[in-house]
Amino acid sequence: MKHKICAAALSLALTGLISWKAVATNPVLFGDPFPRITAELSDLFSEGKEEFSTVETAEEGLGPVFNDNSCAACHSNPAVGGDSDILETRFGTTTNNHFDPLAQFGGSLIQSQGIGAFGTCNFAGETVPADATIVAKRKTTPLFGLGLVDHVPDAAFLLLAQLEKNVSPSTAGRPNIVTDLATGKPAVGKFGWKAQNPNLLQFSGDAYVNEMGITNPMFPAENCPNGDCSQMPSCYPDAGLDDEGDDVEAFSDFMTLLAAPPRGPITRDVLAGENVFLRIGCGSCHVPVLITGPSKVKAFNKVAFHPYSDFLLHDMGSLGDGIEQGKATGRDMRTAPLWGLRVRSTYLHDGRALGLDAAILAHDGQGKAAKNRFAALSASDAQKLMAFLNSL
Ligand code: HEC
Ligand code: HEC
Repeated sequence: MKHKICAAALSLALTGLISWKAVATNPVLFGDPFPRITAELSDLFSEGKEEFSTVETAEEGLGPVFNDNSCAACHSNPAVGGDSDILETRFGTTTNNHFDPLAQFGGSLIQSQGIGAFGTCNFAGETVPADATIVAKRKTTPLFGLGLVDHVPDAAFLLLAQLEKNVSPSTAGRPNIVTDLATGKPAVGKFGWKAQNPNLLQFSGDAYVNEMGITNPMFPAENCPNGDCSQMPSCYPDAGLDDEGDDVEAFSDFMTLLAAPPRGPITRDVLAGENVFLRIGCGSCHVPVLITGPSKVKAFNKVAFHPYSDFLLHDMGSLGDGIEQGKATGRDMRTAPLWGLRVRSTYLHDGRALGLDAAILAHDGQGKAAKNRFAALSASDAQKLMAFLNSL
């Protein structure tokens, strides 16, 4: 009986009669919160979104160096919380065969703007120091649905890595192990291009100080421009925090409750394209389904979702950006989640690819075999694969 229902649903889906949009009573749009959350959570989402969009000034703690003056300035496409083509710069060098972020020059992340005249000081944006031999660009990633990822237990990612090792060793991913600053314990990194951050709360604190220069409980130290702290004592005499933690929590609430990207229409070609995607091995890294752990909040309680990523690190050969973070080597990158792909306009960590073809053809290292199978597809299979990717 179960079989028959499945077959019937499948054939309906195949004729294009069922699509997520058609069956959903209240279609979720990009930038919406998860549907059917309590009024209390809905309020947290709205307040968090407001904080995420608030433009900060030097008087409120912005700087002395920063990349932009609100989270939403970069995370905006096609709605607040999304991606953008805004790139950041990281740099470093190799010292004694080891990656060196050149911390003495403010590395590895550049803060490109300074607040200018402030008290008796003047702060300019950072530049890449002459000692840097590695310079990498990183594109702003979208935040839709990341609350689901945050609710997948670390043990599930460790198990997934083990499964990949057993089933498909040549493409198997590895977890980035980083420090959870709240507990001081090791944790699985899931967020950022290198999976360098373990959870949304910590990323919020990290971004507040490293993108905006706003210190907070987990990140109490100001960034000195290019590592030069000489102006700090006179113009930042007070060692107090810019944010006591309320803003950081508000960002985290907003991002946690930001719904997953809605799927586009699912046509016959889209379904056939997903088969091509799985057949040529894209799904061994771009894993179609993950499941959250238990949660008191229904939206996160043992929910299956479709990020098309394992959030693990893979050796991408020449595609790697050369920067090391945690256990991620210069060649390692986190599998980019493909959900929401249809609203992005540039691809890969540095935005170098202007089309999906170019993004796939740049896969190297552990992604090279799948790239070669993609390049060898018939025109019809390639077209179906694109239909699938453009439905995400
Ligand atoms: C100047 C542009 C810019 C600003 C401002 C900015 N971000 Fe980002 N954001 C980025 C970039 C670039 C990345 C990718 C960083 C990386 O992995 O190196 C990113 C990544 C993230 C991620 C990781 C998402 C994922 O894919 O795993 C989170 C979470 C995030 N930002 C939150 C914030 C919050 C919260 C703020 C405000 C406090 C903020 N960002 C401000 C550019 C920005
Ligand atoms: C070995 C693991 C692996 C395999 C196999 C793989 N990918 Fe990827 N994919 C990645 C990683 C890692 C990235 C991020 C790379 C970067 O930007 O540096 C990525 C990025 C992408 C992007 C860009 C997404 C964005 O938002 O910028 C697309 C599109 C993509 N992959 C499609 C595919 C397709 C289609 C296949 C099958 C032909 C495939 N990938 C196979 C690991 C893999």
